[in-house]
Amino acid sequence: MTAPTVRSVETVVDARKGMEGAGLPIRRTLGAVIEMDPFLMLDHFGPVTWGPGQASGVPDHPHRGFETVTYILDGRMEHRDSMGGGAVLNPGDVQWMTAGSGIVHSEMPEKAFLKQGGTLHGFQLWVNLPARLKMTEPRYQDLTAEQTPVAEADGVLARVVAGSALGVRGAVATHTDITYIHYTLQPGASTRLDIPAGHHAGAYVFGGRVKLGAQGVLTGEAQFARFGDGDRVDLTVPEDQSTPAQVLLLAGRPIGEPIARYGPFVMNTYDEIRQAIRDYDAGRMGRIAPAVGAG
Ligand code: FE2
Repeated sequence: MTAPTVRSVETVVDARKGMEGAGLPIRRTLGAVIEMDPFLMLDHFGPVTWGPGQASGVPDHPHRGFETVTYILDGRMEHRDSMGGGAVLNPGDVQWMTAGSGIVHSEMPEKAFLKQGGTLHGFQLWVNLPARLKMTEPRYQDLTAEQTPVAEADGVLARVVAGSALGVRGAVATHTDITYIHYTLQPGASTRLDIPAGHHAGAYVFGGRVKLGAQGVLTGEAQFARFGDGDRVDLTVPEDQSTPAQVLLLAGRPIGEPIARYGPFVMNTYDEIRQAIRDYDAGRMGRIAPAVGAG
């Protein structure tokens, strides 16, 4: 056995600010200012506070060839899809949707939230699928805040969406090896996470500041740090910080295949993209049934 090597920070980038749909502010890192196979995109949306009737979302649209993972910190969103699935996402809830061969879904504010207004804050991560899984059957996993495993130790709170941290394992079934941890680290706290060598790993900071990697690179809000290779990552919040650090730690085994990408479809070739467009246009990804009742 050789001693584990602590990963160094290779790159730190600032998120690119943008606007999604009708007035949802987003900060995008993966897929905009940095790439990290097997992830395709990381959008941090909000926090944005809407008045009554103002909240916006994304109406019916298709996906094929990858997975979308939505994690809500504040506000309430309603998901509906062409498989007949539907759920309201409340703060702390995670929705792991495998689009696979194709799904149509809508991501809209929940009715009462829309009516009353309020603050929306959360994330959407896109996880790529290897060629052998791109046409897998669509799957939808809904994990409430209570069902999300949490680990706690010495000023460190880890919500384990996928993979494991501090001996606690995530509860979603993933098609590929993915680590997705939300850390809240108090000033002076530190933690480490084993990540198999060869997996890509990075951290998105969305609150406070944290020292990352072997060099202890101080990384702040709306910054994404990509790590080099090694066996583990170290995170430390300096004692002098006045607020806890909020960090999403993402890691996964790289797929290493060609990517052909067109809007909501991510395949290996542009022939497959053209097929996806034909299939969607012909209604082969299904459609969302009209809402039943006034509810
Ligand atoms: Fe979507």
